[in-house]
Amino acid sequence: MVLDDSLLNLLTERAKQYHDDTVAMRRHLHRHPELSTEEVETGRYIAQQLKQWGIPYQDGLADTGLCAMITGVEPDSRCVALRADMDALPITEQTGLPFASERAGVMHACGHDAHMACLLGAARLLQETRTLWKGTVKLIFQPSEEDFRSGAPQMIAGGVLENPKPQHIYAMHVLPDLPAGKVGMKAGQYMASTDELYLTVKGKGGHAATPELNVDTVIVAANILTALQQVVSRQAPPYIPTVLSFGRIIGEGRTNIIPSEVHIEGTIRTFNEVWRKQAHENITRCAVETAKAMGGDCEVTVDHGYPFVLNDAEATQRARDLAGRLFSPANVEELPLRMTAEDFAYYSHLIPACLFRLGTANPDQKGTQSNLHTPEFTVDESALLTGVLLMTALGIAG
Ligand code: NI
Repeated sequence: MVLDDSLLNLLTERAKQYHDDTVAMRRHLHRHPELSTEEVETGRYIAQQLKQWGIPYQDGLADTGLCAMITGVEPDSRCVALRADMDALPITEQTGLPFASERAGVMHACGHDAHMACLLGAARLLQETRTLWKGTVKLIFQPSEEDFRSGAPQMIAGGVLENPKPQHIYAMHVLPDLPAGKVGMKAGQYMASTDELYLTVKGKGGHAATPELNVDTVIVAANILTALQQVVSRQAPPYIPTVLSFGRIIGEGRTNIIPSEVHIEGTIRTFNEVWRKQAHENITRCAVETAKAMGGDCEVTVDHGYPFVLNDAEATQRARDLAGRLFSPANVEELPLRMTAEDFAYYSHLIPACLFRLGTANPDQKGTQSNLHTPEFTVDESALLTGVLLMTALGIAG
């Protein structure tokens, strides 16, 4: 439906009025982070907030997830879903903030605390104004985004995209490259698929001074790493962005001992499901055959992660238009493709979707320009107002 100016102004006014509450929710969640699949207290806190505003919800989805439903006038006329992720990361916080994590070694270092606070803020506004808009809004609080035992397929299996089926689904993610007050988006393919690679190179260990008696796993591993780069440079279609990186290589020999096994771990990211599958085969073949050619062997395991995120052109245009009206077109950035991944991808392959980015950087606030997943990372909380407003507007007119 169309979001008229008077409703838009009312939402802006109320969002400002409730901003301190939104900040308090974010700080509570930040203080009490929980790892993927363990978001029990987080789920309870969300339920408590929803209950307080009289918003009906279903809990126990994907164990700790929730789906709230707010019905406006003519609830069957349309349905939009809004999603926030709930989990934190195994990182020891070093922000020095008064509301820093109270759980040792666990931190909201990816902004999911901000995502939840914004969706809760939007829930409150949607509930209060429900006689002023048409349709139904589903609010999906999804656990376990950071883990390959991803919460998204479990929430989908739990029925969040049925009864009623949303026409569009939206999510946001904080972005420390973008100033607070701005949002950014990109239509079409936006974030990459991700899969993890585990290689075990096998040979024959022995004394480093007797290479003729060994099959040198370190040299085999070095050749495999070099050979695998041609999967990207020579086999990937040049029009499909692909990254193959290895961040871990373990060969526990010594200066004078050749180990009989070397372990290699890495990631492959791309934007095409057919090529993704083919790449797994090519990587496996290249690693195994390279090892064999040198007298060794290699076992390859591919741990399947998420598909790529597809931002629907129309849904993205709606987000862009609404953001332009709320914050002025100058505050809406066109973003480039990213090789990072998001399990929002699963929803985006089922219904028209848009994942937009919320700018959270402020050069005057320490940590707000630190990268995601770093111990110093934090957000400029003024951005929560932007997030609440755009999520609310998308619920009504997205
Ligand atoms: Ni994240």
